[in-house]
Amino acid sequence: GKYVVVKKDSCIACGSCGASAPDIFDFDDDGLAEVTYEGDNNRGVTLIAADLEEDLQDAVDSCPTSCIKTSAKAFA
Ligand code: F3S
Repeated sequence: GKYVVVKKDSCIACGSCGASAPDIFDFDDDGLAEVTYEGDNNRGVTLIAADLEEDLQDAVDSCPTSCIKTSAKAFA
């Protein structure tokens, strides 16, 4: 399993992540992407379910600024 966060400093709000993985990403009030999965609130502390890992990888691969970071360990 993986944990994920969006480094918002680099997000250009292109929307690819939400299109690839709508169960994981959504936009915040500023129009930037964040991890909304299971109430994670972009903390990177919620293990993404195995059945969403393909969507997650698609999102990572689709982000033009590479600002979606994944890890085998929780971020905080
Ligand atoms: Fe932002 Fe990358 Fe998603 S630019 S909107 S995090 S695909």
